[in-house]
Amino acid sequence: GKRIALLTSGGDAPGMNAAIRAVVLAAHKFDCEVIGFIHGFNGLMLNEFQSLSIASVTNIIHQGGTILKSARCKEMHLPSGIIKATETLTKHQIDALIVIGGDGSFTGMLALSNTWKGQLIGIPGTIDNDVDGTDFTIGFSTAINTAIRAIDKIRDTANAFDRVFIVELMGRHSGHITFNVGIACAAEQVISFENFNSDEEEATLAQLTDGIEQSAKIKHSSHLIVIAENLWPGGAQKLAEQLTQRSGVDCTLCTLGYIQRGGSPVAKDRILATKMGVSAVQAVIDNQHLVMTAELNNTMNLVPLNIAILHKKRVNPALVDAQANILALTAQTEN
Ligand code: F6P
Repeated sequence: GKRIALLTSGGDAPGMNAAIRAVVLAAHKFDCEVIGFIHGFNGLMLNEFQSLSIASVTNIIHQGGTILKSARCKEMHLPSGIIKATETLTKHQIDALIVIGGDGSFTGMLALSNTWKGQLIGIPGTIDNDVDGTDFTIGFSTAINTAIRAIDKIRDTANAFDRVFIVELMGRHSGHITFNVGIACAAEQVISFENFNSDEEEATLAQLTDGIEQSAKIKHSSHLIVIAENLWPGGAQKLAEQLTQRSGVDCTLCTLGYIQRGGSPVAKDRILATKMGVSAVQAVIDNQHLVMTAELNNTMNLVPLNIAILHKKRVNPALVDAQANILALTAQTEN
């Protein structure tokens, strides 16, 4: 059988362990050996690895994080890093490298393909869901469920205090988390990459203030605004201050942060990770190269890695519409 190297890279995501397990079990079925490199591509730089037996992946499907550890590896952006990675893979006589990660990790794989001639297979694992060619990435479902449970609690406090809360969510370049969580938490307002440009700051402030005033008028006892991180000019704390000043109501910022990254994966992520892990090994057996496992419209397939990093995947427009129309409805009811 072939010799497969496996690593997890970039932000950890719930379900990465389920994917590791599936890769190892499927590889054993096909008589392949699996070596896990530690701390993402850093493991290739430093030749840090462990052999992955069936025993090493039992009892991990439900665990958050990644047993292989992860990292964002700056050296993979340098020619020296690519050379080191190539040397390590060659030394271990690896036939295929499977990487579980997001767009940054896939960019690293594309760079590596210039010097290393083995098979490169990606599995999309990131809470951000910002990978093209697949409906969902491993970790996204768990992250939005975690955020929803947290925001339900914030809603209790918002109700008790008649207070406005601004909740900042992760997803540094994309609004998948923010829009999905906003809808599911009945957020009064959602501000994300899809509906905000920094040159519209003034108009958005007016609209948000208006929304806060409407809520007060109809005696809505709480008002939640969800916002994507890295979006508001000057940061979300500045937005909280601007809105407090304009509306005369206390607007409190709550940043959910890393809470969204950890925890036991939900069913959807465990199942997606299992399908993708098996599909990645099948891709190795089928001599595939520079592809990512993907699920589109409930069908597993492989997409070229350079498609995966296009950054063209938009939040489902029906969600953006739903949020806009629910707001319009609230305004109407009030009149
Ligand atoms: O890509 C996952 C993610 O959690 C993003 O949502 C967030 O912007 C980023 O990682 C944080 O990165 P780091 O772990 O390097 O602070």
